This record gives sequence, structure tokens and C-alpha cells, in this order.
Amino acid sequence: MQIETGVSLKPYNTFGLPALAQTLVRIESDADVRRVLDHPELGKLPKFVLGGGSNIVLTRDVSQVVLKVEVKGRRIVEERADAWIVEAGGGENWHDFVTWTLDQGLPGLENMALIPGTVGASPVQNIGAYGVELKDRFESLDAVYLVTGRGATLDRPSCRFGYRDSVFKQSLAGKSLITRVRFRLPKPWQPLLGYLDLERKMAETGQHAPTPRQVYDWVCEIRRAKLPDPAVVGNAGSFFKNPVVTVEQCRDIIGRDPEIVHYPMPDGSFKLAAGWLIDACGWKGKSIGRAGVYEKQALVLINRGGAIGAEVVTLARAIQESVYGRFGIRLEPEPVVV
Ligand code: EPU
Repeated sequence: MQIETGVSLKPYNTFGLPALAQTLVRIESDADVRRVLDHPELGKLPKFVLGGGSNIVLTRDVSQVVLKVEVKGRRIVEERADAWIVEAGGGENWHDFVTWTLDQGLPGLENMALIPGTVGASPVQNIGAYGVELKDRFESLDAVYLVTGRGATLDRPSCRFGYRDSVFKQSLAGKSLITRVRFRLPKPWQPLLGYLDLERKMAETGQHAPTPRQVYDWVCEIRRAKLPDPAVVGNAGSFFKNPVVTVEQCRDIIGRDPEIVHYPMPDGSFKLAAGWLIDACGWKGKSIGRAGVYEKQALVLINRGGAIGAEVVTLARAIQESVYGRFGIRLEPEPVVV
């Protein structure tokens, strides 16, 4: 186990924000976690688990011991009558894993192609896109508790998945490290094409019975057209969650802004498009310091080059205030501010 000190985290967060880790340890196995916990000095210190760095805003140097998850490996676990079970190490790149499953002829994750980040981070915020959420394909995961060093396997109910939420953002926040995740890919495969952008692709191409690879290509095209590539422009995907409001609140807002983009939810509430709200407040393309609002999708905040975390936070607060001022809605950030 190699202990590194004074490590720049700039290459390890997709926003490209500057911050140093006082101490960083690369975790390649469960045993590595236990080695850190048993270490005479590191064992006692607070820990910070870092995945792909695609869901954090670093505003300061990190004094906790950074555990950078680099557990690798992908495998087919088993074939059941109604599904394939596949597994990947927490340190695997999410998109590469999705591509690998398709290469194996095992579809089911294609709607979530090109989401930045790692496999281990995917359950933390229950990633989702184009009508599919991680929880819809989740089987179980292995984690190590950071206080006791005990390993555990968590099934779907134990993870308490919600919209961009899970037990790992709530009671287990900062308390465990996810080493491996298993996915359930249902048989027979059925395309999920209900999302407006995918319906448009079907209409454009005239293909109404696409293959998994076709859906994957469409999702990649849609994302590339409206979301910035973190390798080119620093960002953390959607910066705010889409707010959920009551039918009365929704009616009230529609009364004032008939154009508002809203989706009915199964429980009778409505989800509003945060990107639309921010756009309506005139933020698209605007900046505060070196942090800006992406020109093609107002829900995405970007680093225009050399931004620091404080600039991103200042911009986010200014957006929250103007959306609250006009619509009376409090936007909740998706990434974790450190
Ligand atoms: N819109 C605007 N102006 C904008 C941005 C969006 O009017 O500047 C409108 C769009 O026209 C559309 C609606 O808002 O009618 C929704 O936009 P979009 O379809 O792009 O999806 P989103 O709600 O902005 C969510 C997820 C994304 C996910 C897409 C596709 C959240 C917070 N975001 O975005 O997830 O890729 O749906 O499923 O739920 C992420 O979480 O990081 C992420 C990128």
C-alpha cells in the first residue's frame, strides 16, 4: 500500500477544480481498506472516499485521508432464467463498463451510456438517464465499513434508492467504501424508448425496433449534443436536481408561466425541469468569475478555465436565489460540496 502526500486532486475531479489531498491512498481491494484502517496513524484519521470525482465541488484542500477507489475487474456472474448478473469493480469507469456489457451481448445499461464517473459511485446517487435509473438494473453491492473494517453485501432495499439519492448519501454518508457492484440485466431485452429525445431519434431515423447498440449510439449522440465532455470543459453533469412540487404548486406556476416543462409523477406530484427554470431566469451562457452556465443546457455549470470551487458555489447560490425569487422553488444541488 502506497501512501502519497500533497497530491493534486485537479485531475481527479471532473470540474477540474484545484485542491490538494494531504494524504491519498489508492484502494485496489478490500484488503487495502483494512490495511488503511489498521495503519497506526491513518487508521485514526477521518476518511474521504473518492470515485471518479464527477459529483463533487472541491472548495478547499482535503484534510481527511483520501481513499481513491481503484478496484478493477468485470465479469459475468451468472445466467438466470430471467436475467444476466454482471459485476464490476468500484474503480471501473462507468461508460467503459456499459460498453463492455454490450460487447458481451448483454444489453440493459445502454440508456445510461456516457454518464461520467465510476461504477462504485453509481449507486451513491442512483445515476439515471433517458428513462432508466441504476436502481432498475441493480442486484447488490459489496462495501467495507470504514469504522469497523467489516465487509457487507447490500441488496436493493438496503440501499434505499431514491431520485439521485441512496443510503450512501444519508445514514451511510462517509461511512463505507463500495468495492464491487452487481447488475441485473433482464431477459429478454426490451428497448426503453419513452424519453422524448429518444422518440425524436426514432422519428428521424425511421427505426422503430432499434438494436441495443443503436439505442447506445443514440444516447451517446444526444448527450454529446447537449452536455459538455468533462475532458474538454470541466463540469459535474446536472448541477441541481429536478424539483418535485405538489399539484397545487404546479398549477400556480403554470398559471403564471404556461410554458413550464413539467412531468407528472406516479404519486400525483410533478417534477419540474430545473434546466428550464434556470434558463427562464436568463442564466444560460452567463458567468460569475470563471464559473459559468453551459450554453446548451442551463442545468450544467462549467469551469470556463481556471475556476476555483468558491466561484462555482457563488454562481450556484446566485442561480438558487433568482429561481427562488421568480418561482418560489428552492433548487437542491446534485453534487456534494466539499
Ligand atoms: N430545458 C430548457 N433549457 C435548458 C435545459 C433544459 O428549457 O437550458 C428543458 C428541455 O427543453 C427539456 C427539459 O428542460 O424539456 C429537460 O431537459 P433534459 O431532457 O435535457 O433533461 P434534464 O432534466 O435537464 C435529466 C437528468 C440528466 C439526464 C437527463 C436525461 C437530473 C438532475 N438530470 O436532465 O442527468 O441525463 O435528464 O435523462 O435529473 C445528471 O444527473 O448529471 C444528468 C446529466
